[in-house]
Amino acid sequence: MKMENLTYEAKDGIGVLTVNRPDRLNALNSQTVAELEAAAREIAGTNDIGVLILTGAGPKAFVAGADIAELSRMTPMSARRTADRGQAALAAVEGLDIPVIAAINGFALGGGLELALACHLRVAAENALMGLPEVGLGIIPGYGGTQRLARLVGRGVALEMILTGRKVGAQEAARMGLVNRVVDEGQALEGARELATAILANGPLAVSLALRATRDGLEMPQAAGEAYEAGLFGLVTATTDMKEGLTAFMEKRRPRFTGQ
Ligand code: COA
Repeated sequence: MKMENLTYEAKDGIGVLTVNRPDRLNALNSQTVAELEAAAREIAGTNDIGVLILTGAGPKAFVAGADIAELSRMTPMSARRTADRGQAALAAVEGLDIPVIAAINGFALGGGLELALACHLRVAAENALMGLPEVGLGIIPGYGGTQRLARLVGRGVALEMILTGRKVGAQEAARMGLVNRVVDEGQALEGARELATAILANGPLAVSLALRATRDGLEMPQAAGEAYEAGLFGLVTATTDMKEGLTAFMEKRRPRFTGQ
């Protein structure tokens, strides 16, 4: 994977994709957005990791937003294209069929919080500060933030954050369900790895199908979501992992899943 503003490494079934522009607090310029989408598509085409962690380089920021220098040059049509491309990149991340965990080390603002929201799970360090401050710049969130934040934390809490631009710390974010876990400062990546390891102990096909059922089902009316879930429940019976999981339980031993 050849990239200018992202780094990627994979080890022990966990991939770590890092936004690497620390001197700009990892702000998402158009090049970085394009690389994010390309990286997500490449990871979708490989089979060597079971969990992806997304993080930002340096101790100060996950991602401090879309690149404000670029935003200042926008016209109505280029702004529309910027939002389209950002949304496509984040949809590629969210659409991965392996769990994606945001490891939030510091600022996750604007496009940075939107990126974290496109991940399936979020681990925040104590020094994390999250918000959608766009209205303070005279713009609105454009990478899906108005949609995903309201779906995750409810419309009242989301609207307060969106309309005031107020930033919330890790503990408050955990109370509102915006992040799953809070860890010590400097430990976001480690905390995300721990969560990844807990996921990797399970049957990888079952994890992937459960992720699909939850993520895709939430876009459907409940009855359609349940029918979709039932279809995937049926599909799982075709896997060797299901036989192994149930047999291991009956034989009182740990399962050895193969992803088949
Ligand atoms: N886009 C472009 N550059 C950014 C940026 C962004 N979103 N966020 C930070 N930077 C740059 C700063 O301009 C600064 O560059 P400089 O060294 O050339 O002056 C550098 O990153 C370091 O940031 P700085 O502001 O000096 O750090 P700080 O600790 O004083 O403040 C923040 C940190 C996050 C509070 C502040 O950078 C900020 O408010 N950033 C914008 C956040 C935002 O509104 N994001 C939503 C955009 S839609």
